[in-house]
This record gives sequence, C-alpha cells and structure tokens, in this order.
Amino acid sequence: MAQAVLLLAGAVTTWIVASFVGPSIFHDHLLEAGSAHDSTQLDHVELAFRDSLLIAMGVALFTSVLTAWLVTAWFTRRVQQSTGAVVTTAADIASGQYDARIDASGLGTEFDRMGSTINELAGRLQDTEATRRRLLSDLGHELRTPLATVEMQLDAVEDGIRPLDGSTVDVLRSSTARLRRLADDIAAVSRAQEQRLELRLVSCDLAELAARVVADGAGAFEGKQVRVGVDHRGPVQARVDPQRMSQVLSNLLSNALRHTPSGGTVSVSVEHVDGACVIEVLDDGEGIDAEHLPLVFERFFRSDHARERHEGGSGIGLTISRSIVEAHGGQIRATSIGRGAGSRFTVTLPDPSHHSTS
Ligand SMILES: Nc1ncnc2c1ncn2[C@@H]1O[C@H](COP(=O)(O)OP(=O)(O)OP(=O)(O)O)[C@@H](O)[C@H]1O
Ligand SMILES: [Mg+2]
Repeated sequence: MAQAVLLLAGAVTTWIVASFVGPSIFHDHLLEAGSAHDSTQLDHVELAFRDSLLIAMGVALFTSVLTAWLVTAWFTRRVQQSTGAVVTTAADIASGQYDARIDASGLGTEFDRMGSTINELAGRLQDTEATRRRLLSDLGHELRTPLATVEMQLDAVEDGIRPLDGSTVDVLRSSTARLRRLADDIAAVSRAQEQRLELRLVSCDLAELAARVVADGAGAFEGKQVRVGVDHRGPVQARVDPQRMSQVLSNLLSNALRHTPSGGTVSVSVEHVDGACVIEVLDDGEGIDAEHLPLVFERFFRSDHARERHEGGSGIGLTISRSIVEAHGGQIRATSIGRGAGSRFTVTLPDPSHHSTS
C-alpha cells in the first residue's frame, strides 16, 4: 500500500508538471520550427503529444504499482514465514521442547543471527536439562546402596537376627559416613561445574607444590608399600590457586595409590612443555581400559563398581579435578595402554611467562 501510494504521488506530480510545462514547450518548439500559428496540423500534433504523454504515464504507473505490489507481497510473505517460524520455535522451546531449532532464513545477517542465538539458547537449555536428569538418576543410584545397608541392618536388629552391638553400629556408621561424603561431594561438584569456583590465583612454583602434596601423602604410600617421587628440573612458575591445585594433585595421587598394587611406583613430574606447564602423575598399576578412558572424568564413573564402592570412592574426584583445571584455563587428560599397563594423568596449564611474551 505504502509503495503504491508513493508511486501514485510521484506519477500524479509528474503528470501535473508535465501537462503544464510540456505542451507549452512543445508548442513553442513547433512554432520555432516554422509551423503556422493556427494550422489544424499544429492542433493535431499537440493532441498527439498530450495523448501519448498520458498513455505513457498510465502504463508506467500501472506496471510500477504492479511490480511494487508483487515484490512487496513476496518479501512480506518471506519475512512473515521466517518470523512465524521463529515465534513457533521460541514457543516450542518455552514449552520444554529443547530440541526445536530454527533454520537459516536467508533474509540477511540480522535474521540469521536472531535464529542462531535462539538455537544457542535452546542448546544450552537442552544441555542443562540433560545434566539435571543425569544428575538425578546418578544420585538416586548412589543413595540407594548405603540406604539399603542401613535398612537391612535396622531390620536385622528389629528381627533379633543381629544385636545392636559395636559391629552393627560400625556398619551403620560407615553407611551414614558414606551418605555424608556423598552430600559433600555433590555440593563440591555442583559448585565446580557451575563454575562458581572462586580461584585465588597467585604466582607459585608447581614443582614445590607437587613436592608438598607428595610429602603430605607419603604416609599412605608407605603404608601400602608403593614408591612415590617427584621429578622436576627447576621451578615451574604458574598462576594457580595453590589450594585447588593441591586438591587436583592429591586426587590424582590417591587414585594412583588406590589403583597400584604394593611394590608399584607412582611418579609425579612437573615441567615446561611447548609454552605450557605440564604436571604428570604416572603409575604402573592396573591401568584403564581404552573404552573407559573417555569416561573417567564423568561424574560418578568408576570402572570397578563393586570393589570401589566397598573402598569408598564416589567417582567424582576426577570430575572435580577437571572443573578446577578448566577453571584455570587448562586441560586434564588420561592415557593408558590398557589394563595392567599403568595410567598417566596429564594436567596442562597455561604458562604465564609464555603468554606475556607472545
Ligand atoms: N590411576 C588410575 N588407575 C586406574 N584407574 C583409575 C585411576 N584413576 C582413576 N581411575 C578410574 O577412574 C575412576 C574415577 O576416578 P575418580 O577419582 O573420579 O573417582 P574415585 O577415585 O572412584 O572416587 P573419589 O575420587 O570420588 O573418591 C576410578 O573409579 C577408577 O576406575
Ligand atoms: Mg578419586
């Protein structure tokens, strides 16, 4: 409509101006060319001029209004379809269908960005929802075992099968301790995964930090007769939160200890590699199956459920470690040639000195 009005206004103006100015200019030119003032030929030529002007204007106006209408109708339809799709998809997402996605409209960058932003939003919601579901099911699974033990013990006491003596209380206590640990772990892992970890970054020597963590754990290693040592060539400065990084190392060390039989060796190395600070914890223990390697950092993952539940691991030590390392802008990887061949955990952290010079 707007386009048609615009064209009409243009055409009417052109027509008015042309019919006032055109004929007199035409008339003057004809006189100059030598036509007689009152010849009928002159009248005819002037009439022809006026008619042809009118027809030309009419046809031009008609075609341009038609074209404007067609183009506008086509474009409006496309915009309507695209925004309609966006609205429908957004409504779907709002109602909980997080897998709904918008296709690229081809209407230009702004439209495409609107689509991709909504898609990103849906992706995030989908991830959060999946994590929430997984967490809830993991949690139910984890709570069931200690609760079942408590119930079983209480039933046995009630039925007179077991006396409520020291050993029963010990079993009950170990189950409640397990529940308490689980609660603490869950709090820690959710803090870590929501990236609410507050890091107090200071410049510190990773080699010294590793040596301290190893010294703290030395007693446990001695008790199991597993050798442990730190290997480094001089200080390796990095900007880390010493407490958190110690937590990562002690997680890695306690895992290595747990999975290495007596007589084995665990070694920690700290060095600069390719402009990064690299800490490695290497053991020659039972190793990790190739199929389990990608899973060890997953929440509640344990490769040997029966035994480790007995030994008390929740399977979140590495999940927390990974969150901490990633919060430092680093990476943690696990490698192992397979069962019986030992495992290697590698933590790579950005090297502050390398960063500032590059
Ligand atoms: N050094 C290692 N050698 C062999 N397997 C390992 C080693 N470190 C970790 N794993 C495997 O990865 C799993 C997950 O480790 P993670 O530290 O997350 O949990 P956990 O040690 O079982 O329990 P938590 O650390 O919560 O007490 C372990 O249960 C084990 O199966
Ligand atoms: Mg662990």
